[in-house]
Amino acid sequence: MATIVSIHSFRGGTGKSNTTANVAAVLAARGRRVGVIDTDIQSPGIHVLFGLPGDEITSSLNDYLWGDCEIGQAAHDVTPQENGGRIFLIPSSTKPGEISRALREGYDAQRLTRGLRRLVDDLELDVLLIDTHPGLHEETLLSLVISNTLLIVMRPDQQDYEGTGITVRVAQGLEVPRMMLLVNKTPESLDAEAVKAKVEAAYGCDVVTVMPHSDDLMTLASAGIFVLRYPEHPLTALYETVADSVSSG
Ligand SMILES: Nc1ncnc2c1ncn2[C@@H]1O[C@H](COP(=O)(O)OP(=O)(O)OP(=O)(O)O)[C@@H](O)[C@H]1O
Ligand SMILES: [Mg+2]
Repeated sequence: MATIVSIHSFRGGTGKSNTTANVAAVLAARGRRVGVIDTDIQSPGIHVLFGLPGDEITSSLNDYLWGDCEIGQAAHDVTPQENGGRIFLIPSSTKPGEISRALREGYDAQRLTRGLRRLVDDLELDVLLIDTHPGLHEETLLSLVISNTLLIVMRPDQQDYEGTGITVRVAQGLEVPRMMLLVNKTPESLDAEAVKAKVEAAYGCDVVTVMPHSDDLMTLASAGIFVLRYPEHPLTALYETVADSVSSG
């Protein structure tokens, strides 16, 4: 059975999309079939990391949600390396008119859920990664309901601590089977083990890793997938740990 993982954060810019793309690349390099769906309809972006320009998106999640195509037709093969595994990306539209239409009119929530299940079957996915919009939007709550695993990405920041607490409570209410945290952008001056212990005690769930703030990742600036660009980098080993943890469920 496929593992469905939502990657979420209460506040924006925590590193969800970079985490999602790097985890996808690690899993595909190990021969897994991975789906990545961008449910951040409001401000889509993960396609950039996979080298797919927004204006080359032919069919998107929006088209599917409006009944204009099947979900599989919105899947773009963005496999970066031919090594057995595959990555299929279902991007959100970057056309301003389509973004505002989605926000104005909303969409049939059940259709999204059905589409996600269909995707897993039709593309024979081992893992489906759902990159979300920050905060507690309807599409996020929906994706949580059908996920086996929720990965919450947070920074060691007081606003993120509070927001993460809210997200954890909501996910508990929705009975998400597995929840884990990734603390990202940690300044080098903080002791990673102490941060891990503090966060685990605060929320009662496992911290998969405490990632440092990385100038190398910042410099790459979403122009590619870090683990492929820097296979020997210490941060790559941390992304591999995250991939192991989320895909083991
Ligand atoms: N560990 C890190 N060290 C330094 N920069 C990072 C790190 N992780 C992510 N970033 C940078 O932070 C920015 C935001 O990352 P990303 O787009 O992955 O976050 P996001 O949570 O998906 O944002 P949004 O909420 O807007 O969708 C990017 O410029 C990315 O390169
Ligand atoms: Mg994002």
